[in-house]
Amino acid sequence: MTDVANQGSNGDDQRPVLTTRQGHPVHDNQNQRTVGARGPATLENYQFLEKISHFDRERVPERVVHARGALSYGTFTATGKVGDQPASTYTRAKLFQEAGKETEVAVRFSTVAGGRDSSEAARDPRGFAVKFYTEDGNWDLVGNNLGVFFIRDAIKFPDLIHSQKPDPVTFERQVANRVFDFISQTPEAMHMVTLLFSPRGLPASYRTQQGFGVNTYKWVNEAGETQLVKYHWLPKQGVKSWTAEDAANVQANELGAHTKDLYDAIDAGDFPEWDLHVQLMDDREHPELDFDPLDDTKVWPEEQFPLHHVGTMQLNRAPQNIFDENEQIAFGTGVLVDGLDFSDDKMLVGRTFSYSDTQRYRVGANYLQLPVNQAKNAQVRTNQRDGQMSYGVDPAGENPHVNYEPSTLGGLQEAPAPRHDEQGPEITGRLTRQRIPLTNDYQQAGERYLLSEQWEKDDLVANLVGALGQCDRPIQERMVWHLLMCEDELGLRVGEKLDLSPDDVRHLEPLPSQTLTEDELQRRSNLG
Ligand code: HEM
Repeated sequence: MTDVANQGSNGDDQRPVLTTRQGHPVHDNQNQRTVGARGPATLENYQFLEKISHFDRERVPERVVHARGALSYGTFTATGKVGDQPASTYTRAKLFQEAGKETEVAVRFSTVAGGRDSSEAARDPRGFAVKFYTEDGNWDLVGNNLGVFFIRDAIKFPDLIHSQKPDPVTFERQVANRVFDFISQTPEAMHMVTLLFSPRGLPASYRTQQGFGVNTYKWVNEAGETQLVKYHWLPKQGVKSWTAEDAANVQANELGAHTKDLYDAIDAGDFPEWDLHVQLMDDREHPELDFDPLDDTKVWPEEQFPLHHVGTMQLNRAPQNIFDENEQIAFGTGVLVDGLDFSDDKMLVGRTFSYSDTQRYRVGANYLQLPVNQAKNAQVRTNQRDGQMSYGVDPAGENPHVNYEPSTLGGLQEAPAPRHDEQGPEITGRLTRQRIPLTNDYQQAGERYLLSEQWEKDDLVANLVGALGQCDRPIQERMVWHLLMCEDELGLRVGEKLDLSPDDVRHLEPLPSQTLTEDELQRRSNLG
């Protein structure tokens, strides 16, 4: 084998030599091969063809949402406890069991609506996606910084996102009229709106934002007993936000302020940390609650469902290559390990299909063979073979000819049945298409407003007025109606600035998609 690195060094210049991907030294990287100095060019010029055709394929499609993001790596260290109980009381997931147990993580923070080069100072939810490389395979916790979401049924997600993407005719970005046209017809979005238009809709950095799993998952213990669970990441750096003015000033100079802040901190050895907390709830129906625990537009009140510290994550390494790692990493809500499970949350089920589906399209059929996506701390042995960009064949059993199961000739075998393969409450129901019965779309939004500090209330009102001021009158009227349904003061303040009183919107009927409860009907008759 020729050591090309030592070939062709020019005099004292000992830098390694450029080669093609085939390992051929490149003697001239400035001129194509041509017939005569002025052409024509020849078609068999392999070096040129390899270079240009690779360049032609340098982009995979960017993520349809969360295109702009920053990846970093670190470690999760467990407390081994949930409150005063050992973690094993509630989950058999190995990463939580012992105090001090460490698990490698990759974390990608992101914005949602903009493209890959868009501003990180936009008012937008932030993504908070964590991949735990555990010994039982990978676990992805794919969350956001606000704790709730706009919608509760996955079938509405493409419409929500279309309303937030550029106008399909003019390509104008984030047209308030489109965003609020959709939101005004989506009463379950009001809680998210009161967060997104508050200071928390503009985190000062990725390091100073919270993270939440948002959807409800389950924990399963050794005995097969299940709990509903919600995840919270609390930054040890504290929570800090920008005003709209701060964000505009940052954006004037730097579109990638969050990424820069994260990598600068890691570079300086100032490693950011987050504590992971969980809230637990018995896995059964909860008629005593005024919200549905599987509804991702709701939070679980912390007085009733306290936070338990289960571990701490530190981020201490930046990627070596943005494309290989940040662009090709693939997170998904379906990626759980033993001891963790899905709930029936209708968003979670839809998300679980969507992520791996888009990644097979966006990255390719063998996306899980890429180093950043491999379950590198578990033993992976599948009978999956071939497909574009197949990179390695998993070790088969003793007989490498057998790439199927079952077989009498060797190959891989099924794992022993889990000790408890039945779990959770028994559920009966008819096949149907219906909203969840307990929607309660306004209460938590109103409570959040009332619990805010005065400057946060003022900021929320100013931001809503700024956005709604650009909308058509019927959209403004419907939004003021919703905000009055959430909380009189909020609706009155926004309405006043838009020159809309409760009397101007009282005539509006509930949306066809709404069935108001007794309490909501009462509020409606006393609007303002
Ligand atoms: C990314 C779908 C709701 C958080 C994505 C991607 C898709 C998607 C297709 C791009 C993935 C890729 O190309 O690798 C959906 C659907 C949803 C939904 C269908 C609702 C039914 C949510 C919610 C959250 C969330 C509620 C927050 C809790 C994220 C994050 C990413 C992402 C953080 C970026 C992951 C990364 O950094 O690679 N989502 N999403 N999504 N989604 Fe969702």
